[in-house]
Amino acid sequence: MKKKVIAIDGPAGAGKSTVAQRVAAKLGYTYIDTGAMYRAAAWKVLQENSMDALTDEVILQTVKDIDVRLQYINKVTKVFVDGVEVSDQLRTPAVSRVVSQVARLGSVRKKMVLLQRKMAQNGAIVMDGRDIASYVLPTADVKVFLTASVEERAKRRFAQMVKKGYKVDLAELKEEITARDKADKERTISPLVKTEDAVLLDTTFMSADEATEKILSLVLK
Ligand code: C5P
Repeated sequence: MKKKVIAIDGPAGAGKSTVAQRVAAKLGYTYIDTGAMYRAAAWKVLQENSMDALTDEVILQTVKDIDVRLQYINKVTKVFVDGVEVSDQLRTPAVSRVVSQVARLGSVRKKMVLLQRKMAQNGAIVMDGRDIASYVLPTADVKVFLTASVEERAKRRFAQMVKKGYKVDLAELKEEITARDKADKERTISPLVKTEDAVLLDTTFMSADEATEKILSLVLK
């Protein structure tokens, strides 16, 4: 079978990475988590600046020469910033709070998109994010827009965070997700959008396995 390119977009906490990883594992494809790349940039911004000093200028200055690398080995994504592995530090509440502010900037996106397209050039990949079908890989073979109600997404994120040992509040998480979705949808450059040719998959009442099967059936069609 031809090595395909699969694009999965959607709002925060829709289960994109879980489902994308399962699809990739089933097909023996590489999974590319583009959210992790923007989180890596946000991580560096927070390492070098205090949260209340974050102007666009400060952010751009901090990430001007950033070197972000993704490694997908044995079904695990490792993320490196300037040669240091930061994989376990990207899903913190602090990074989640500032990532959209970093990701809205044109020169940050330009850098990441270049890398994303390079990683996708040989096919056999599943890439998830916000602008994959609309901008990064508009000729992808399969395009899926994965979503779920905000309540369900907050609940899933809550369970994930608790499992990782974070103290989180469900209502706060729902607020953070709502704010992030709004910022991602309303930004000028490459906003979160469902393209006309993407298949809408609402997983509010669907398990990750069911969503995986649905996507596999689209790929194998
Ligand atoms: O997918 P995840 O929730 O980890 O993404 C974190 C943030 O990175 C998003 O809220 C969005 O601001 C940004 N992002 C983006 N474009 C992508 C992937 C993520 O702007 N392709």
